[in-house]
Amino acid sequence: MNSGDVRRLVERIQSLPTLPGSITRITKLLDNPDTTANEVGKEIEADQVLSAKVLKLVNSGFYGFSQPISTIPHAMVLLGFEVVKTLVLSTTVLDMMSRSMAGLWQHSLACARTCGIIARHIDMDDPEETSVIGLLHDLGKVVLEEHLAEEFSEIARIIAEEETLFYEAEERVFGVTHANVGGWLLGKWQLPSNLVEPITYHHNFHPARTHAARTAVVHIADILVRAEGYGSGGDRRIPTLSPESLKTLDLTMEDVRDVMEAMQDEIRDVVR
Ligand SMILES: [Fe+2]
Ligand SMILES: [Fe+2]
Repeated sequence: MNSGDVRRLVERIQSLPTLPGSITRITKLLDNPDTTANEVGKEIEADQVLSAKVLKLVNSGFYGFSQPISTIPHAMVLLGFEVVKTLVLSTTVLDMMSRSMAGLWQHSLACARTCGIIARHIDMDDPEETSVIGLLHDLGKVVLEEHLAEEFSEIARIIAEEETLFYEAEERVFGVTHANVGGWLLGKWQLPSNLVEPITYHHNFHPARTHAARTAVVHIADILVRAEGYGSGGDRRIPTLSPESLKTLDLTMEDVRDVMEAMQDEIRDVVR
């Protein structure tokens, strides 16, 4: 299988964004700048299964607020349109994630929180959007596991026998990684490039890319979460931290220590 085959397969995965009727209506509403939070809230709440899933995600605390959110309009106000839209589109994949690779959900949740911690530490705009990137950064793994099960077990075998990194084994088997696959899928859902690009390049940081700052946040958060042992990324080695990513955010080693201390405080509920 070459990367073209994998890409065609991902393009064909029509079943991922489920509930197409209500989701299409909701994303149309969200794309209109005149839409109010109330209108979107009503449309989401009209679909009870969807609204229950979105509220469950919102209250998984991926963004790190402490008070519970009980209504969709409240979530819209607190998290913003882009975050709620992304959650609406991702409900099915995130549902699959909690049942897929052991530890991936905990890894993703801890990564989301750490993205929020870093974003707030450097006063970034829209820390909630950065958190949702952290939540979704490895969603390509879920897609690959669900749709290419045989190749996926080959990856697990390579990792067990050779102690490689997950994405190195993927490159050997597929010619692409879960980062590419996740990016294609979100691109297909027409999410903006400031959400798609950081996911595509979270293992391949380069300071010259358009959304380098957000990419740096998710790249660093992913590695800190691995180093601290929250959940599992599916392999036993920790990827190398790009020094350029720290430079892009003007982070010193002392800042990194502050972030890690905040992680100890704020991610107590996620299984290590
Ligand atoms: Fe990854
Ligand atoms: Fe990861």
